Amino acid sequence: MSRYRIEGGRRLQGEVTIGGAKNSAVAIIPAVVLSDGVCRIENIPNISDIFVSFEILKALGAQVRMLDPSTVEIDPRTICSHVVPHELARNMRASYYFLGSLLGKFGVARVSMPGGCNFGLRPIDQHLKGFTALGATVPPMIENGMIEASATHLIGNSIYLDVVSVGATINIMLAAVKARGITIIENAAKEPHIVDVANFLNAMGADIRGAGTDVIKICGVPHLYGTSYSIIPDQIEAGTFMAAAVATGGDVLIKNVVPKHLESISAKLQEMGATVEEIDDMVRVRMDGPIRHCNVKTMPHPGFPTDMQPQISVLLAMADGTSAVTDTVWENRFRYVDELRRMGAQAQVNGKVAVFEGVPMLTGAPVKAYDLRAGAAMVIAGLAAQGRTEIDDVHYIERGYEYFIEKLRGLGAEICRVDIPSPYAKRA
Ligand code: EPU
Repeated sequence: MSRYRIEGGRRLQGEVTIGGAKNSAVAIIPAVVLSDGVCRIENIPNISDIFVSFEILKALGAQVRMLDPSTVEIDPRTICSHVVPHELARNMRASYYFLGSLLGKFGVARVSMPGGCNFGLRPIDQHLKGFTALGATVPPMIENGMIEASATHLIGNSIYLDVVSVGATINIMLAAVKARGITIIENAAKEPHIVDVANFLNAMGADIRGAGTDVIKICGVPHLYGTSYSIIPDQIEAGTFMAAAVATGGDVLIKNVVPKHLESISAKLQEMGATVEEIDDMVRVRMDGPIRHCNVKTMPHPGFPTDMQPQISVLLAMADGTSAVTDTVWENRFRYVDELRRMGAQAQVNGKVAVFEGVPMLTGAPVKAYDLRAGAAMVIAGLAAQGRTEIDDVHYIERGYEYFIEKLRGLGAEICRVDIPSPYAKRA
């Protein structure tokens, strides 16, 4: 077991380089299953969710070879299984993308119910509705924890999503890309990673148009081929460093970003008093003076991302007045507020709304990471707080932030990872 130890109150200053987007990579890696040739993928983030994806591919029979820490070569031609076992699927939400890719390639998929961060109900009914519309059979009851889908032929169809879902949009694209005829996804999600996955599939020979809008049209093709592809930079990793810069009154140049993907985050930080400057593929974030209070409401892209909600809330906990944060995407993503209270924050949560009464300063405390983004928020709070903060359950954070400690130390943070003996370890 490990924890992060932070001595707070250091101003972040300097440059940091952002890695590849987690939520693209966890879909692009399963998408390789659809290829008839070898794929080389660059800008792979060095995070535990990616290692799990590679283990799943290997369990299916694919060859996975790292060419360097951020480039992988995958040969899916040796895949001989259609089953994603529980030991692997339980570690990662995005294991559900193997349902779409295995179904699209082999007409059959069995994937254990996915795990991942827990912030309320995380149904996949829209994914399954999409597969069914394409002609797949999906048993209504989950048996032995496994989700199954199978089809003799997948046939294009029109699918209207009842909720805007990133996962369902991508999974239906994966299943439909080799189906006979035309598939239209309406009310599709528009996140940058949807466009990235569509671009990757098109680079393999798919015919997908409209990704990034709410109507995606997919003309099925019989074969997909090996390709080389570079994953886009991670919008949320960049946003997290932007928030950390503001929290510590810092001055940070964040390199390897797509500023367009950061617009909703930049706009909010500017409203809070930060200076955000776009310079080609970089943003410079500076903060001088008090954080101004404001309200935040998360929405599907291009709205303010729910995956930045905990990090921005830390700033509002230290703002000069009262702020309301509403998460319209997830029903229970405020569990971390209890931990922030331990650091002196004054906040009330009522369903999907948290109200922060800004305090002049947070103070270090022992806290825990409830999930990936909640964990990142605790790190930001610890960096800004006076005194020492120790964060437990950091394996959540390491699901999605590569070299986090090293990158923060490069900006002047005093943070380290300490190993703690398990309370259940045998005494000698
Ligand atoms: N929903 C349904 N039915 C479905 C699918 C979704 O009702 O079949 C609901 C969900 O319950 C939720 C909303 O629709 O209320 C949006 O869910 P979505 O499907 O978009 O989420 P997801 O695909 O499971 C991805 C990201 C999350 C991110 C959300 C929203 C990945 C692997 N995960 O999850 O990222 O919060 O989109 O943008 O791409 C994170 O990176 O920390 C993270 C949790």
